[in-house]
Amino acid sequence: MSTAGPAATAAASSAAVAVPLRPRRRLLSRLLPRSLAGRTAVFLLLGLVLVQVAGLTIHALDRVDLQRFQQAREISQRSFAIWRTLLVTPHERRFMVLAEIDLPPGLRASYDDDPLARLSYPPPPPPMLRMLRVESVMSAPPRLRPRDVIVSGSSRPGVMLASFRFQDHGWLNLRIEMPPPRPWHSETFLAAFVLMTLAAAGLTLWAVRRLTRPVRDLAAAADRLGRDVNAPPLPENGPSEVATAARAFNTMAERIRRFVGDRTQMVAAIGHDLKTPITRLKLRAELLDDDEQRAKILSDLEEMEAMIGATLAFARDDAAAEPSVPLDLAALCRTVLDEAADANPDLPEAAFAYAGPEHLTVRARPVALKRALANLVGNALAYGNAARLELAQAAPGQLRIAIDDDGPGVPESELEAVFQPFRRLEASRNRETGGTGLGLTIARNILRAHGGDVVLRNRPEGGLRAVVTLPA
Ligand SMILES: Nc1ncnc2c1ncn2[C@@H]1O[C@H](COP(=O)(O)OP(=O)(O)O)[C@@H](O)[C@H]1O
Ligand SMILES: [Mg+2]
Repeated sequence: MSTAGPAATAAASSAAVAVPLRPRRRLLSRLLPRSLAGRTAVFLLLGLVLVQVAGLTIHALDRVDLQRFQQAREISQRSFAIWRTLLVTPHERRFMVLAEIDLPPGLRASYDDDPLARLSYPPPPPPMLRMLRVESVMSAPPRLRPRDVIVSGSSRPGVMLASFRFQDHGWLNLRIEMPPPRPWHSETFLAAFVLMTLAAAGLTLWAVRRLTRPVRDLAAAADRLGRDVNAPPLPENGPSEVATAARAFNTMAERIRRFVGDRTQMVAAIGHDLKTPITRLKLRAELLDDDEQRAKILSDLEEMEAMIGATLAFARDDAAAEPSVPLDLAALCRTVLDEAADANPDLPEAAFAYAGPEHLTVRARPVALKRALANLVGNALAYGNAARLELAQAAPGQLRIAIDDDGPGVPESELEAVFQPFRRLEASRNRETGGTGLGLTIARNILRAHGGDVVLRNRPEGGLRAVVTLPA
């Protein structure tokens, strides 16, 4: 305790400044999904959306450019056609001719004394200007001299003015309204685009789920191995990384199996070999003259024999790989209680009680699990004169069985120690309980092999509570 002094003080002072016990997750990891599949999908979908948006923008800009160019070309050609028509018309007839020309929507033309376009106005859009220039150079004679045309924007955005001067008299004024560009030429294009994006997103999600499935399988296999050392091996196929991981996992499982098996075998061998010298000792003890000593030695030897018998039974059961099957845990609990009641006819009926669901199916090894529960119920009856069982769902995926009795309980310092093989409390040694001190060891061994556990607690109102946990 004294060696832990500085560390304990440091821990106490850091607790005083309210350091959160769990480190706060960063914003990004809080927003992201928890699963690997979810995170991969989020990143891939983000990338997809980004690429699609960029592609759509480039496409739209390109379309706008093209439309502007086409508009400019059309308008400039029309403008020159009108100018040329008026050019060959005598001055006094120009009004009438202009009135008869069919003008496209957005284009208005008038024949005036003064130009409408002014250099003081904002400049016209560059493609228009470029087009007019190209047209004036390329068109067949008579050519328009650059100083005979004024092109400008106007006070209204999207409207530009062009004024052409005639050598003899007057100006042709054109008011050109540029229609706003339409980057999306059709609704079907947008619909197709959305459909394409959705299809790509669906494909991404499907691929991510498929690619992360081996990780889920590996986790499930590790979980199964924790409950059952003899669980079937993982299939060693699929992508090379997955196959390698599965092979490594199977090798590890095989090593664990061999390790457990070797140890059990060793315990069995030692137990078996001890039988012969004990038998010899018993024969020799019979020859002793001192009656009292002989009786004591024989009783000790009998106890040793019982312990070895229990050890061998434990090793035998452990080695026998009982398969896991679906079983009704509620029914098993009631059976264990019924059998215990039959074996203890002198105890009142109130000493046995079951509380919990009528039926509850779990996967377990029935004989082993029954032995574990029977050991705990047996202890409760032997040392506490009662066995009240309560089966409940403790948390999602976890079941809890509490076994209560009315006995003296176990000193706090011994609550863990009694799980060691052959460990018995002084008080129980003198009693005629017939135990050898392996009951709790076996119970815990079985429950841990199921992926569960058992611990002991002293109840505040007196008596002991054995708490069994099992995966649901
Ligand atoms: N319900 C209980 N109340 C009091 N003591 C207990 C209880 N269960 C177990 N113990 C103590 O733990 C020891 C070990 O139990 P166990 O491993 O079952 O061996 P055994 O019952 O053969 O003695 C017991 O000898 C007893 O002293
Ligand atoms: Mg016992």
